[in-house]
Amino acid sequence: NSRCNNKVRMHEAKVVDMVDVEDIAEKAAFCRCWKSKNWPYCDGSHGEHNKITGDNAGPVVVKRKAT
Ligand code: FES
Repeated sequence: NSRCNNKVRMHEAKVVDMVDVEDIAEKAAFCRCWKSKNWPYCDGSHGEHNKITGDNAGPVVVKRKAT
């Protein structure tokens, strides 16, 4: 099949995560490969995923602008 999620909260019809902006310190990396064991955050699992599949997935990093 062509689904991207084979791991995260499989029983849910749609996986949606809410993170309060105030809870992000300087920056946070959010998983986009669906393989993280610390969902919704990136734990580096994309590296192994990319190696096995030839994919090029990586996180989205949300950070504060330097003031
Ligand atoms: Fe999924 Fe890093 S673990 S993007």
